[in-house]
Amino acid sequence: MATVTHQSEQAQDFSALPEVSSDVFTAPLKRPDHVGENWIEPQQTQYTSEDDAIWNDLFARQMEVLPGRACSAMMEGMEKLDLGKGGVPDFDRLSEELGAMTGWSVIPVPMLIPDHVFFWHLANRRFPAGNFIRTRETFDYIQEPDVFHDVFGHVPLLTDPVFADYMQEYGRAGWKAMRYNRLKALGALYWYTVEFGLIMEQGEPKIFGAGILSGPQEAVFALEADSPNRIMLNVDRVMRTDYVIDDLQPTYFVIESFEDLYRQTVERDFDRLYRSLGPSFTYANSAIIDVDNVVHRGTQEYFLRGGRGSSAKLV
Ligand SMILES: [Fe+2]
Repeated sequence: MATVTHQSEQAQDFSALPEVSSDVFTAPLKRPDHVGENWIEPQQTQYTSEDDAIWNDLFARQMEVLPGRACSAMMEGMEKLDLGKGGVPDFDRLSEELGAMTGWSVIPVPMLIPDHVFFWHLANRRFPAGNFIRTRETFDYIQEPDVFHDVFGHVPLLTDPVFADYMQEYGRAGWKAMRYNRLKALGALYWYTVEFGLIMEQGEPKIFGAGILSGPQEAVFALEADSPNRIMLNVDRVMRTDYVIDDLQPTYFVIESFEDLYRQTVERDFDRLYRSLGPSFTYANSAIIDVDNVVHRGTQEYFLRGGRGSSAKLV
């Protein structure tokens, strides 16, 4: 058992990138030549006036749907960081302001980065944000997270002290998931909270997930459509639940508060959980199970009609 102890001790130290042993399976990404071992770009890209115009148009479009739907921490964070001042925000300025509030910084990365590097940055309160911005052709949907998704969608919530701590805990939990080869399960937790999470405010679900906040259709769908399930979050259940990556979600999970999310995460015995999980998911993404505290039982009409690519109506 000496090796196991050694690994656990290593996991407590988040100052340097961990060695990834050959029996840990991660995405085979190739690092661009100009990028360092930490996958950070040497500096933020210079944006053209068209890039800035794309940011402004995306910002304006989201602001037509988000007031009243986005959670208050998002709306306040956006204001505190002045994300609507025009053009792609400067990461140094953001980091300075964010640093003063919660100790986080925003660092430029060229693309999706390997899991162990991503977790390492989060564990050190650094948020890796895509450097590039989408084009007019990919205005509505891009597969790789760009600067609009990452900065508009994720960064405002890092001004909330509890959510900021949750993100750090998530990074710490990541290395452990890698040792058990259970990244899929931890990925589901990220997906259903950080990307597509809802939060109760005055008895009504509001949006805190960056995937919803930064997309054109999902804000209305997630909150108002009959189609998707809305279920109170239970970390054990969520980590066993499959998710959709290229369409709207059949199910959204709702947290009571960021304190509740933080508590459910830090008080989790992840060793025990990872040992009890199989390599694949237990629950389908549209399932409702006995233990669920259901806010809304979805009709799943959108998906039964074929989802994206069909003419299925959203609401
Ligand atoms: Fe994201």
